Amino acid sequence: MTTNQAATTFRLRCIGCDQTPDGAQPDFRCAHCGDLLEFHFPGWTYDPASLRALWLARRISIGKVPGKALDQSGVWRFRELLPPIAEEHVISMGEGNTPLYHLQRCARATGIENLYAKHQGMNPTASFKDTGMTAAASAAHQAGFRWVACASTGNTSASMAAYAARGNMRSLVLIPEGKISWGKLSQALDYGALTCQLRTDFDGCVRILNELVRQKPVYLLNSVNPCRIEGQKTAAIELLEQLGWESPDHIIVPGGNLGNSSAIGKALLEMRGLNLISRLPKLSIIQARGANPFYRCVREFDGAKLEPMTADTMATAIRIGNPASWKKALRVLRATGGEVEQVSEVEIAEAKAEIGADGIGCEPASAVTLAGLKKLRASGFVQPGETVVLILTGHLLKDPDFTIKFHRGDLFSGTPDERHAVQAKSLQRAPVALDADLTGVIAALDAAERNSGLY
Ligand code: F0G
Repeated sequence: MTTNQAATTFRLRCIGCDQTPDGAQPDFRCAHCGDLLEFHFPGWTYDPASLRALWLARRISIGKVPGKALDQSGVWRFRELLPPIAEEHVISMGEGNTPLYHLQRCARATGIENLYAKHQGMNPTASFKDTGMTAAASAAHQAGFRWVACASTGNTSASMAAYAARGNMRSLVLIPEGKISWGKLSQALDYGALTCQLRTDFDGCVRILNELVRQKPVYLLNSVNPCRIEGQKTAAIELLEQLGWESPDHIIVPGGNLGNSSAIGKALLEMRGLNLISRLPKLSIIQARGANPFYRCVREFDGAKLEPMTADTMATAIRIGNPASWKKALRVLRATGGEVEQVSEVEIAEAKAEIGADGIGCEPASAVTLAGLKKLRASGFVQPGETVVLILTGHLLKDPDFTIKFHRGDLFSGTPDERHAVQAKSLQRAPVALDADLTGVIAALDAAERNSGLY
C-alpha cells in the first residue's frame, strides 16, 4: 500500500441519500437513489504543518531519489488526501507540477494587478484531465480491468488513452462525430484507443456508454467516477502550496460536465477543514452562453433544478448540455460563495487571444475564465485589489484550427456573430505572406514597429 494513514478511513458516500456503499456499481451511481458518489474521509487527523513539510520534502526530492515515482507526481505527492492505491498499480506520467503564471498584460487590461493562471494544460497530455486520470486509471488497473472507456469532448479521451496504454489496458473512446478538435482526436488515435465517432453529441455518447458498462466488463473513466474527482483535487492543493498557503480571493474555472469545479471546490473545503488554509477562496464557474445549463440552473432556478439543453459552442470541450456533476458543483459554489457567469463566442475568442498575447496560450474552453472575470469585475463581484487565479484547463495546441481561423479573421464568417466579431479585430495577427525578399521583410518589420502601440 501507499504510505497513507487514511487507508482505513475513507468511504464512498452518496451525495443524495448519504448511503455509504462498500463498492460502486459500473455506472458509479448510487444503487439506492441513482445520485453520484463521492469519497469522504471521516478519520483524518492530520497536523497541517507536518503535511506541508512532508509534501515539500517530496517536491524537493524530485530528480534526486531514483525510483520515487509517486513523489515525482504532482498528484501522488499529496496522497495523504487521496484514496489509497497499491503502489504497483499506480500509473503515473509525472502529472501535475504545473506552473502558476502572472498574467501581466491581462492584469493591466482588467485592472486586477494580482491576476494569475494555473496552467493545467502543461500536463503530460496537455490538459487537466491527467490529474484525475492517474487516480482513476490506477484504480481500474488495481481492480484488474482489461478495458477502460469514456465519452468525451476530446481531452478525457486523449488522457484516458495515454494512461491506459501506460498501464497495458485497452481503451474505448466515444466521441461526437465532427465536434472535437483534431489535436485531441489525433492523441486518442496515437495512444492506441478504439475510437468510435458517434453521430450524436457528448450527451448522447454518455447515454450509450452508461448502457455499455452495465453489459460489458468495461471500467468507466468519466468524471462520475469519484476517483477522477479525487485526483483533480490536487490542482487546488498544489495551487495553494504555490501561493505559500495564502488563499487567493477568487478561483475561476470553466464549467462543462462540472467535474473539475466539483473537484477544486472539494479540495478547498477539505483544506479548510484540515486548517491547511485559514479562509476559503470564492470559486466561480463560467460557461459558454450556448452551453449554459448550470448558469441557468443557478440564475433562473436558484439551484432547484437543471434543465438539460442542446449545447452549441465553438469551445467544443465544454459543449455539454446535461452536466453530470451539477449538484456537486452547486454545493461547492454555495459553500465558497462563488458566482456563475456566461460568456459569448466573441468574448471567448477575444479572451483567448489576450491570454495568448501574454505568452501563455490555452484552448478556447479555458479562455472562458478570463472572459468571465471581465464580467465579474464589471459587476463588482471581483475588486481591483483582490488576487484572482484562472484555471487554464487545456493547451493552446489542442485546437490550432480555432486560433488560426481567429487570427486570419474567418472564425466567425457566416455565423450569427459575424457582426460582433469586428470588436476582436485589433487582437488579430494574421500571417503576412511575402516574396522571399529582404526589403519586404524590413518593410513589414518597420510597419509593425510603427503600430506597436496597438500591441
Ligand atoms: N476545459 C477543457 C479544456 C475541457 O476539456 C473540459 C471538459 C472542461 C474545461 C470542463 O471541465 O467537464 O470538468 O466541467 N472536457 C471533458 C472531456 C468533458 O471529455 O474532455 P468539466
